[in-house]
Amino acid sequence: MYFEQFYLGCLAHASYLLASEGEAVVVDPQRDVELYLKAAEQHGATIRHIFESHLHADFVSGHKELAARTGAKIYMGAQAGATFPHVAVHDGFELTFGKASIRVLETPGHTPESICLVVTDGEVADHEKSAAPWAVLTGDTLFIGDVGRPDLSPRHTPAELAGLLYDSLHHKLLTLADSVLVYPAHGAGSLCGKNMRAERSSTIGTERLTNYALQIKSREEFVQQLTSNLPARPEYFLKDAEINRTGATALADLAPLRAIAPVELKSMLNAGEIALDVRPGEEFAAEHVPGSVNIALSGQFASWAGTVLGLSAHPVLIAASDAQLEEARLRLARVGIEVLGGYLAGGVAAWKQAGFQLGSISQITADELQARLQSDRVQVLDVRREPEWDAGHIENAAWWPLDNFRVSPPEIGHDAPIAVHCKGGYRSMIASSLLQRAGFKHVINLIGGFDAWQQAKLPSVSAKPVGV
Ligand SMILES: [Fe+2]
Repeated sequence: MYFEQFYLGCLAHASYLLASEGEAVVVDPQRDVELYLKAAEQHGATIRHIFESHLHADFVSGHKELAARTGAKIYMGAQAGATFPHVAVHDGFELTFGKASIRVLETPGHTPESICLVVTDGEVADHEKSAAPWAVLTGDTLFIGDVGRPDLSPRHTPAELAGLLYDSLHHKLLTLADSVLVYPAHGAGSLCGKNMRAERSSTIGTERLTNYALQIKSREEFVQQLTSNLPARPEYFLKDAEINRTGATALADLAPLRAIAPVELKSMLNAGEIALDVRPGEEFAAEHVPGSVNIALSGQFASWAGTVLGLSAHPVLIAASDAQLEEARLRLARVGIEVLGGYLAGGVAAWKQAGFQLGSISQITADELQARLQSDRVQVLDVRREPEWDAGHIENAAWWPLDNFRVSPPEIGHDAPIAVHCKGGYRSMIASSLLQRAGFKHVINLIGGFDAWQQAKLPSVSAKPVGV
């Protein structure tokens, strides 16, 4: 059997292609499906089957387009209520492709319709005279070092789903042998869990021993732990799940980007429209269109765009090249931001040439910030997530994670100098641009973030005692 994992860093998303005897299966495809078509062709296989492990909330899946382009069948858990033609699968459903097979486990918990796929490689089995499962594709039920969050379904309470997740893990997945490989749908950085490890695969045995959620022996305690301290749930999650339930528009059918002149952008911004600058943070800090939001292509661009802008923003893109524009457009479509206001023709240079004013964000090093904290009134603003803040932060810093920027502004005056930081400088530039847009006049970005602060051996405090 041929097996390949496709990992998309932007969304911390893993999808899979399996093929045997010229017949291929794709599991949890990303929205742009060309890569699966190419890989299948290279291996002399035809894609005949597409599985969705559940209704993904954090990205728009390409299952419908892939099915339309290949004639493949789509398989989903029966609880999904999908509205396009599909095979609704239950526990024990089995699909044979070539010499390999997939057996479905219904594993409600992360969402009611979640399924896991147990893969048996017949080519190996023939050889070894046994048909033992080789791997399990766990979707968002079991991650490496974590399990799926139980609060993404509008129809069930997190406590109900956490209870179901406990049953699915202990009565279904953990009945598999320790040697069975584990391939999840997400890796570190995904908001579908809390704290995944960086590895891209594991085994049932390793997870049984090391995964914190699998160490919790009582169902009650599991529910309690899984439903407390949940990470923020971006608003776009419910919308993406709904797009996936009905099936997304094919990428080629999306409207082309419209060129926008500086003068038109100026009036759009005055009317409250959003400009999204996708250039690297340093370029944005040096000069930008005032009021534009910076989310650089270098990081988890699409997740942050979905989180801080939402799906109804229709931003006008600002980029340094056509290649950047195309990349931004695709990556935004992958989370469902697909109706865009256009792009600034000629980028920031054209804005400058039109004689319009530019904005900038001052950047300082960790040592410079430390010196300023001792002499001036500067408010440090930490925009990292809770576990990062708990592990250590700058004393007297205010904490406002970037995930919450849409809902609760910090109680800081607009005239106060604010030094913003995250871990390495990516999220803090997003936050700095949002603060400027919201009217904060003296926004300063800490170069290199908390990592640089620690490298400079500057003092920090932690919220919880470490090592107790
Ligand atoms: Fe998910």
